[in-house]
Amino acid sequence: MGKIIYYLKHLNFFVVLAILAGCSPMDSKENLKYHSSHLGRQNLLAEMDSVDLPVQGNIPSWLHGSLLRIGPSWFGDNPSKASLHWFDGLSMLHAFEIKNNRILYYNKFLDTEAFLRAKNENIFAFFGFDTNLYDDFFQHLASMLFASDESPNANVNIYKVAGNYLALTELTPPVSFDQATLHTVGNFVYTDSLPKANVFESAHPQYDLKQKCFYNYIVKFFPRTSYLIYKIFENSSERILVSEIEVDKPSYMHSFSITENYIILTEYPLKLTQNLVLSTKPFIKNYTWCKNDKTRITIINKYNPCDIRTYYTEPFFSFHHINAYEDANANLFINVVAYQDGNIVERIGFFPEFLDPSYLLNVRINLAENKINTWKTTIGTMDFPRINPAYNGYFHRYFYAVKFDKDRHGIIKWDIQKNKVIFWAEEGCYAGEPVFIQNPSKHEHEDDGVILSLVLDGNKKTSFLLVLDAQNLKELARSYLPHFVPFGLHGQFYN
Ligand SMILES: [Fe+2]
Repeated sequence: MGKIIYYLKHLNFFVVLAILAGCSPMDSKENLKYHSSHLGRQNLLAEMDSVDLPVQGNIPSWLHGSLLRIGPSWFGDNPSKASLHWFDGLSMLHAFEIKNNRILYYNKFLDTEAFLRAKNENIFAFFGFDTNLYDDFFQHLASMLFASDESPNANVNIYKVAGNYLALTELTPPVSFDQATLHTVGNFVYTDSLPKANVFESAHPQYDLKQKCFYNYIVKFFPRTSYLIYKIFENSSERILVSEIEVDKPSYMHSFSITENYIILTEYPLKLTQNLVLSTKPFIKNYTWCKNDKTRITIINKYNPCDIRTYYTEPFFSFHHINAYEDANANLFINVVAYQDGNIVERIGFFPEFLDPSYLLNVRINLAENKINTWKTTIGTMDFPRINPAYNGYFHRYFYAVKFDKDRHGIIKWDIQKNKVIFWAEEGCYAGEPVFIQNPSKHEHEDDGVILSLVLDGNKKTSFLLVLDAQNLKELARSYLPHFVPFGLHGQFYN
């Protein structure tokens, strides 16, 4: 009865009809397929109000602001046996307020219907990356054709637009939260006519430093499939369509990049081969690695969107672009963390087990001669690349990333110019995405700043916030939390 009341309140008429006809959400066990005994894949259920963390070492006096991080935190009843895909753990927000060598920490679940369903009914069911709420065709069809007011399990990234702090996932809409308390506000509604639900939207909007706007793209699935590339000024909630590109089989593209003049999409051979409206499979299970296809790079001119060029390269897959930039000789450079194929998408569900090797892929396109060439460098598996955000879209020398080894996840700093890599690592410690913060009074060098990373200490079975000098990756400070935090995804720093 509780379920029926819930759906009567939250879902549309057609879904209600289907439920009354005898259909019910998938048993949560059908969504639980992945498992890892690693501490970083266990549930963190505890939520804390503001706690003053002890600081070992010295945080630079200029470092004031808030690091907001997000990631999966609840994977099911017994993650050691079977749990949700890593990307589908229920979303938790973490805040670290840093000022005068002090850190205040607090954390909270994103208060979505999926979270309440898990909390109140022990059901792990929602439309996620590799999870589908419904196994019934008519329910699924209705949920795809008619937007509900249910909030998605937004656990991928943080974004701030028009003064609103948003939790992002790829299955829209964004979910707004209060930065000061981490309380969930509700679905964020853009004030434009672009699609707001039942579309894919990248959780990695790209900030244009010159125009002070973000670029992003939507994949529209019906009635025709197309990429909708838009921009949104940082103080606005209205997305402005830049270009619509029709595509027969859209690629699964987790991120993209921009340069001063161009938007760059890398369409991998991981393509939508089933009709998402008619299929009852989880989202990503509708994509297939088309092994005979190449990766297509599409370049859209920001200021003349009719100027669209395409180039083809060897097939590869990537979650994360590192950066892209132009030079004075009509060359466009793109750096991505690449994988040989799309197998990583399923295998990363078991994170940190079974990781495929990744590599730094450099792409150079000469726009005058229409020539493309690529070269790659490998150092094992690495991902979660970040750069100094003041260089987004412009020439950059360094990037920072996580290097995944079996007994540790370290942080690397890669000097692309010298092809030199330096490391921070400790045995039994598992670092998260390194976030670069520039020293506001010292801009002389690209790496004048610090790296913040939330590290899981497997020896102490708790997590700490690590502060590194970005120039040499020497530790400046660390600050232990009262609990461990499962492996997270992304975060942003706000002054
Ligand atoms: Fe990502």
